[in-house]
Amino acid sequence: MENITLEKITYKNYIDVIWRLKVSRSQKNFVASNNNSLAEAYVAITNGCVAMPFAICKNNKPIGFLMIGYGMDEEDLEGEDPLFIEMVKKSYCLWRFMIDKRYQNKGYGRKAMQLALDYIRTFPCGKADLCWLSYEPENVVAKKLYESFGFIEQPQWYNGKEGEEIPALLKL
Ligand SMILES: CC(C)(COP(=O)(O)OP(=O)(O)OC[C@H]1O[C@@H](n2cnc3c(N)ncnc32)[C@H](O)[C@@H]1OP(=O)(O)O)[C@@H](O)C(=O)NCCC(=O)NCCS
Repeated sequence: MENITLEKITYKNYIDVIWRLKVSRSQKNFVASNNNSLAEAYVAITNGCVAMPFAICKNNKPIGFLMIGYGMDEEDLEGEDPLFIEMVKKSYCLWRFMIDKRYQNKGYGRKAMQLALDYIRTFPCGKADLCWLSYEPENVVAKKLYESFGFIEQPQWYNGKEGEEIPALLKL
């Protein structure tokens, strides 16, 4: 039986998360490397912000990575629309999400997403009304997956610039 779980990053799983979990070449533009994400988590955590990185495991073996944030740092949001900043300050965020290329398209991403939302809905950092995330406009797999969980695109916060991601919101 396949048991998909979210596990804290530990000495036991971090080598796999950093070195072995990769997306395909055509997906590299869609998500930061897990190395970078863990470095960002370190910066957030050591500067009074929230980052909750998890290994997505199948029968205890890491097959993916996700990171949840809460009320991101204002400095990091410089130049954004004030309404967007207001929303972000009091919302959860699905900050990073990837399934290793060898394990994609087998339903594990959907299962991990459900587990992440179940966890967010326990409000581990305090009550919030919204969860947000963002994706590259050409990432149709992610867009469809998020839509199926009720995320609604927010085009008013997307300026169409190169490298810009489209934000989407879910009511918790
Ligand atoms: C997005 C991602 C996490 C989805 O994980 P996954 O395990 O492949 O997803 P699942 O197998 O659970 O499938 C989820 C949905 O996407 C669809 N899907 C998955 N891979 C697909 C593919 N290659 N082509 C078309 N549809 C695909 C499935 O049909 C499924 O929909 P369904 O449940 O209605 O059938 C994974 O593709 C990934 O890591 N992509 C690269 C990184 C990335 O884009 N991260 C998101 C950044 S915003």
